[in-house]
Amino acid sequence: MPTGKSRGAVNYSARRRGSAVASAIRGDITTRSFPYVVGTVLAAGFVVFMAMQAVPYGHDRLNPPVVREPPWASAETRALARRACFDCHSNETEWPGHARVAPMSWLVQRDVTAGRAVLNFSEWQRPQEEAGDAAEAVLQGEMPMRLYTVMHAHARLTEAERWALATGLARTMGANGRPYPDSN
Ligand code: HEC
Repeated sequence: MPTGKSRGAVNYSARRRGSAVASAIRGDITTRSFPYVVGTVLAAGFVVFMAMQAVPYGHDRLNPPVVREPPWASAETRALARRACFDCHSNETEWPGHARVAPMSWLVQRDVTAGRAVLNFSEWQRPQEEAGDAAEAVLQGEMPMRLYTVMHAHARLTEAERWALATGLARTMGANGRPYPDSN
């Protein structure tokens, strides 16, 4: 009996020791695995980030030559358009610093390519698909794009400037044979 009792006691304390060791190990794993997981995620993120930089898209940051500008209604109209539109609708894009780093560079490249494709104030020698909608896009607050104005304070227009640009664009397009409102 005493033997059994002592064995029981031994077993009991062994179990306790065992569970203490187990919980110590568990604790170790927990405290080690958190930085381990964070480190792995960061390392993987870094690899993906570097791989993104190797994608050729978005590195061009090209400004083709200015061929011909529209017959601006006034110098003020051009100045306002330059501030608010030229980065995406001309060949005089001021490529921002973040345009060098993917994935932002992809978004900037996409906006400039898509913007120039529908309306390019530097290539007035060819038909400009969306010229007739420019004034309306400004009046309705569609353009300049909101996210862009968050990042670029110079493109934010006051109500008066918005009105001046819209009427100036309407007169500019009118002078170019595109009446406003667009009659199609
Ligand atoms: C940050 C880039 C950016 C700026 C700045 C910008 N646009 Fe655009 N704009 C675009 C893109 C991209 C499109 C094409 C959208 C599409 O294809 O869905 C577009 C489309 C347009 C269109 C076609 C009709 C429409 O609403 O989709 C007009 C007109 C236009 N822009 C006028 C302007 C004018 C005027 C300004 C300045 C007040 C301006 N945009 C500023 C990027 C820009």
